[in-house]
Amino acid sequence: MPITLRKLSHALGAEVCDADVSKPMSEQRFGEIYRAFLDHNILLFRNQDITREQHIEFSRRFGELDRHDALPRDRHPDHPEILLVTNEPKPGGQPADTKYTGRQWHSDMSFTLVPSLGSLLRCVSIPDVGGDTMFTNMYLAYESLSDGMKKLIAELHGIHFSGTRKIVDLSKEREEEQKRITPPVAQPVVRVHPETGRKALYIGEKVKRFDGMTEDESRPLIAFLCRHATRPEFIYRHQWRKNDIVAWDNRCTMHMALGDFDETQRRHMERTTVLGTPSGYVVA
Ligand code: SIN
Repeated sequence: MPITLRKLSHALGAEVCDADVSKPMSEQRFGEIYRAFLDHNILLFRNQDITREQHIEFSRRFGELDRHDALPRDRHPDHPEILLVTNEPKPGGQPADTKYTGRQWHSDMSFTLVPSLGSLLRCVSIPDVGGDTMFTNMYLAYESLSDGMKKLIAELHGIHFSGTRKIVDLSKEREEEQKRITPPVAQPVVRVHPETGRKALYIGEKVKRFDGMTEDESRPLIAFLCRHATRPEFIYRHQWRKNDIVAWDNRCTMHMALGDFDETQRRHMERTTVLGTPSGYVVA
């Protein structure tokens, strides 16, 4: 039986209605899921009460997984393929390293030389209200620019930084450590999706300037592109339920975790990150 899809918003997203990702899946069935992933850019799988091993195994169907060497403090100690996104304090009571992960518009691992193909985020625990994630369609963002703007940005490279979080929680020492592991990387502002051949805007709030330009010169254009890319008509806002898995294509979407919830309640998510193709260069 072919998979059943339900659209999640006008701009992007579909729910795969009848999937059990813990069960063995034929090549043909996974092929249909992957086709839907390319067509809809994000996929939702509800009610997936699965183990970490099953999460990893299903994610591997999308491609080789990142072991998160660029974010060594944030990965699960026994499963490097799993990145924790949690506000649960450490055993000693200190805040979690990943408390503010994702609280700005971004595409995963854009600050590395192998930006991610896609990510699969599993909801383990969510507050009573809030803690949603917003996604935006970067094909539409690019295609709706004027020809003049497309020409202006065609050759630009944005410099992506890893440690610039919206709510800065990094100690000086942690910031220096992160800079050593992941020096700033320049990425094209327009990327061609390797599988669909469509052009997508590649920008976000981790970009601080364009290569060859100062921060002052770059700021207005970065701000415009981010504002444009996150217009309501390009967005899907996901309200999480426990055991949801959302898979997104990082090559043609951006996302942002919202901090609109009671921080005394637990929000615990676990993410696998599928490696993409090499892109960009390190900037001194
Ligand atoms: C992430 O940016 O990968 C995390 C998103 C979220 O926690 O909603």
